[in-house]
Amino acid sequence: MNIVVVGAQWGDEGKGKVIDVLTDEADILVRYQGGHNAGHTVIVDGQEFIFHLIPSGLLHPGKVGLIGNGVVIDPEALLDEMGRLAARHVDLERAVKISDQAHVIFPYHKRLDLLEEGRRAGRIGTTGRGIGPCYVDKVARCGIRVADLCNPHVFADKLRQNVEEKNRLFAALYQEPPIAYDTLHERYSGYARRLAPHVVNGSRFLQEALRQHKRLLFEGAQGTLLDIDHGTYPYVTSSNATAGGACTGAGVPPTVINRVLGVVKAYTTRVGEGPLPTEFPPGLMDRVRTKGKEFGATTGRPRRCGWFDAVVARHAVWLNGCQSVAVTKLDVLDDMETIQICVGYQHSGRAIAEFPSDIELFAHCEPVYESLPGWQTETGEAASFADLPVQAQQYLRRLEQLLGVPICLISTGSRREQAFKTRHW
Ligand code: IMP
Repeated sequence: MNIVVVGAQWGDEGKGKVIDVLTDEADILVRYQGGHNAGHTVIVDGQEFIFHLIPSGLLHPGKVGLIGNGVVIDPEALLDEMGRLAARHVDLERAVKISDQAHVIFPYHKRLDLLEEGRRAGRIGTTGRGIGPCYVDKVARCGIRVADLCNPHVFADKLRQNVEEKNRLFAALYQEPPIAYDTLHERYSGYARRLAPHVVNGSRFLQEALRQHKRLLFEGAQGTLLDIDHGTYPYVTSSNATAGGACTGAGVPPTVINRVLGVVKAYTTRVGEGPLPTEFPPGLMDRVRTKGKEFGATTGRPRRCGWFDAVVARHAVWLNGCQSVAVTKLDVLDDMETIQICVGYQHSGRAIAEFPSDIELFAHCEPVYESLPGWQTETGEAASFADLPVQAQQYLRRLEQLLGVPICLISTGSRREQAFKTRHW
């Protein structure tokens, strides 16, 4: 069984925790898009681990992780992450594989990310890690891939062209000083030597793994509404976070994917700019943000929080082909008197049932809410659906109806044990 785990909201749905539960059912864990803008948190024995580029399932011994061709890699961030995990006895020497077709992030990408963000009329609120500009170079066909980085002649040539071009841009558009080729070349040649033992042809590596009947788990980063094609464009990340991205971003055919599991939080959050129709008013925002510890795992920025939006989650279930969903952070709603679910929108007196592509229209959509009674009981110790208070069961059943797929996993706390499978697993 080969599974894709995908975020069905704006990222930060708790995919790291779901992947951790699923890892027993996988041999090879694959990241297929994004970069170190992602932050997947896993808590084991009271210890918190945050993964940015390395597949989070690697906490389990004996697993192998591939950073696929669709990922953009900042070598410094990757080596740093490997070093920090190694210091905590997570053995990565043989466990981490890197696709030779993945693109490499350079300091000029990061600088451009920050400069462009400062110049934009409407900020996107990027993580400032150089993700977008690196994907721009990939699409513009001037990017530097891991294979190029590891070939000294190709690397020297491509880096020189890129540095020259970026320096022209820095001077003309931003009146910024140039970046020096020599120091950059030396630094990145050092990274190439350190990463070389991990580099493989990603697609061939997975083909061989499948031939040996290994099971693959594709770890989506960010979420459907941040997908470059299907999200709230332009307030999106620059990659395909949806399940389809697993094929192009790892180099496997669609026919090898057997199961797509969507992950939703019991409410909604988003970091960065862009519309969020169900956003809470300030009092409720603070309450949920504090209880849910809603601060970015990568940047520490406070997340914007709101009620569950069934319109966007249904859009995500369809786009990804989710056969079931996992619901996380149910416990954060434990003390609510009443819970709202957005079941549609109103715009200029007109009912809107589906997620619209027009971002201006979306920004002015008023949510139509359905109210359900809260349960006002702690759910952190529940070990099965039957253990949940009846109002929590009603809430989850209503989500299933609205999404049109069953809930297969429920998480009620950050600890590994605070999650249980339902009969739909
Ligand atoms: P970028 O990916 O840094 O270009 O940022 C683009 C948008 O995606 C911004 O709104 C970010 O806050 C958001 N974003 C990027 N990565 C994540 C993530 O892992 N979780 C949630 N939001 C993210």
